[in-house]
Parts: sequence; structure tokens; C-alpha cells
Amino acid sequence: MPATVIVGAQWGDEGKGKVVDLLAERADLIVRFQGGNNAGHTIVRDGEKFKFHLIPSGILYPGKTCVIGNGVVVNPAVLIEELDALRRRGVDVSGLRLSANAHLIMPYHVMLDTAGELQLGKLTIGTTRRGIGPCYEDKAARLGIRVQDLLDAKILRKKIFAALEPKQSALRALEKQLDRHPEFDMEAIDLHSITEEYLRYGHRLEPHIADTARICWDALDSGREVIFEGAQATMLDLDHGTYPFVTSSNPVAGAACVGAGVGPTDIDEVWGVAKAYATRVGAGPFPTELSDEVGAHLRDRGGEFGTTTGRERRCGWLDLVGLRYACRLNRLSSLVITKLDVLAGLDPIRVAVRYRSSEGAALDDFPYHQSILHHATPEYEELPGFDADIGECRSESDLPPEARDYLAFIAERAGTPIRLVGVGPGRDQVVWMGEPAQLRAA
Ligand code: IMP
Repeated sequence: MPATVIVGAQWGDEGKGKVVDLLAERADLIVRFQGGNNAGHTIVRDGEKFKFHLIPSGILYPGKTCVIGNGVVVNPAVLIEELDALRRRGVDVSGLRLSANAHLIMPYHVMLDTAGELQLGKLTIGTTRRGIGPCYEDKAARLGIRVQDLLDAKILRKKIFAALEPKQSALRALEKQLDRHPEFDMEAIDLHSITEEYLRYGHRLEPHIADTARICWDALDSGREVIFEGAQATMLDLDHGTYPFVTSSNPVAGAACVGAGVGPTDIDEVWGVAKAYATRVGAGPFPTELSDEVGAHLRDRGGEFGTTTGRERRCGWLDLVGLRYACRLNRLSSLVITKLDVLAGLDPIRVAVRYRSSEGAALDDFPYHQSILHHATPEYEELPGFDADIGECRSESDLPPEARDYLAFIAERAGTPIRLVGVGPGRDQVVWMGEPAQLRAA
């Protein structure tokens, strides 16, 4: 697998971090291509916990190059904090490369994110309030500040000046409304202090700033293994997700090319990660959502609370209509099913195989019209559950027959083979499908 894209196939938080971490061991280069510090994952290595929002977790392996690509929006304060935390724990971070073309999240982006959410009132999207949307807005409006601007004080000041004025007027209009929010500090939105602060960041980040597309080309052209690591997920895609309840970038596999600077024919494989059930954070349609004790079981057993915001995740049964959509949209070559162990004790296991529209029509395909999706109800098939603790299973044959049948059902209905299954939170708690564990480890 010389070049593999890894994406989320649901609404995020599928456990991509663990999959990337496993595959990164064999890769030379790990590249993030979109999103920002709205993402987050925890990696446990030798009993030590590491939390990442921006830096690819591959940094924990000595000698790997980790790239934050041009498609990522970077809050430099968060990045520096992550670098410092890793350094303090003795991790060599010299392999991190930051695209000179990546856009920077500015203090006014964070404030505008909060302001936008408050203005929406009941229609709130439930963003992570990290300034992601407003930063991508500035990028599209050509008012963005890029990483390379940090290296030239004159240009930086000029660009901040141009970007600042419209933000100041927008925020001033909301001053009263935002008064009680800690993120909101009009004093901080000042040309001089922002310029000085960001020049300091530039100074710290300079050794990492690079032409990262070229780094990808060199690795790909010499046949080295490259992983393109997606953040968020297919259903949160700005174009293909449940708009407007989406993030402001494209988490689908196609975006790896744009966000890293490589061509479609550079990509060999696309892996999609899905939980054995479904979760969603923030607002928006979620047809298989459960507000009963099964939903509570999934949340408790699955530890379904956000890494970035600590918010409770909405939980529900696996949705095969959505998953089939994700398989086709990303043209997945393989599926990874995570957290299968969380289903233990639930009998029967239900899986949504189609939706029913409010007019009674059967919908086998994910509806393109948002109103139809909002009113669609899922139709379930029931499969026998399993009781056993599967945390010690390491090969397909170790799994209870009901668990194997469940996986076979998903693969068949999604039309995509399952390569890897997560059976617990530990790094080694995985089952490589169809291959004895010792063969995979070799
Ligand atoms: P934003 O990306 O902060 O603008 O948030 C937009 C939507 O995407 C909200 O519903 C968030 O909860 C959701 N979101 C953003 N990042 C993640 C993630 O990493 N996992 C799950 N949901 C996310």
C-alpha cells in the first residue's frame, strides 16, 4: 500500500487515529490534508496517553516525516503547545513539516465562530468553536493569512490589516451579545498585538515550514509508503455531507489530492473507518439516533464523549444507507470497523438497511434532498447479538460466530471488504480479517 488515504465513513470520531497509528508504523510519511484543531484523538503508547489535534500521531515513531498539508487550517498557538508538550516528554519533533501554504486561524476567527453560533440561536450547527469555518471563509475570500506570511513582518502586517477591518465591524455589532463569553475580547483584536503575537509564532515554527507538496512527491516518486490522514468524516463534508450541519472543509478522500498537493493517480488505496454502530456530535440529521437505553449503553460502553470539546455524542445503530454512500463517494477499497466490542450484550443487533420517506417510499440510496433526509425513518434488519468479551480476539476465527456474521453482513451490504476490526481501546486490540495475526505482524 504505497499511498493510502484514510477517511472517516460516518460523522467523525470513528477511531481513525488508532488506524493511522497502526499503519504509520510501516509508512515513511504521514500527511494531514484538511480540517484543523476541531479534530482530536488520543493515542496510548506504552501506557502513556498522548492527545493530538494537529500533529499526525506518526510523530511518535522516530524517523518518520509528518506533514501538516496546505489544506489544513492551523492555529499556531495550538500547534506550538502540541510541539512543546511532545518535546517535554522526550519525543523528537524534528520530523514535522508545516506547509507554507496552509492558512492560519486568527483570534478573530475563533470569536466569529462563537458569534456565528450565538446568532443562529436554535439553528446552531454545534461547531467546535475553534474558528475553523471563519478561517476557511477567509481563505475562499482571499483574505486569509498563510503560514508563509509569518516569515515576513511587512507582509504579515499588511495582510492582517486588510483582513481585520471587516471582522472588527462584524464583531462590534455583536459586542453586547458576546459580552459574557470568555472567547470574546475586543481588546485582543488589534493590528499591533496580533502582528507581534503571530511573528513570535513564526519564529518558533520556522524550522518546520516547508514546501510540503514536494516532500510528498519525493516520497511517492521513490515508492515510499505514504498515508494521507483525513479528519472529521464523509457525512460532515462541506459538499457531500448533511449541509449545513457539516464542517467547512472536505473530509472525503478526493480532497487528499488538493489538501496535500498530489494527483489522483498517486493514490493506491482508500480506507474508510466506521464504528460498528454510529455517533454524531453537534446538530443535524441522524436517522438511526437512539434516545433510549440502547443509546445510553453505546455511549457508556463506547466512552462516547468528544476528545476536543468533551461533548456527549449522540449514539445510534449502524446506518448502512449512509455507509454505502460513503463507500461509493470515497470509492473505498477497504473498510475498517472499530469498537465491535461495544456491541457485546446487545441482542438483537439492529442495522438500518434502508430509509422510509414521510410519503412511504423506500429509499435504498442516501437522499440528496435535505428535507427528505430530515423526515426519513430507518428500516432495520435484526441480527443475533453476542455476549462474550471479544477484547482478547486477535484473528477472525477467535470472534464469536454472531460477530463474524455481523461483519460479513456489513461487508456484503456495503459492497466493500473489511480489512481490520477494532475489539478494544488498546493498540493491539485489533483483528486483521482473513489473515492470521502472526502473518500480519511479520
Ligand atoms: P466545525 O468543524 O468546528 O466548524 O464544526 C462543524 C460540525 O462538525 C459540528 O457539528 C462539529 O461537531 C463537527 N465536527 C468537527 N470536527 C469534528 C470531529 O473531529 N469529530 C466529530 N465531529 C466534528
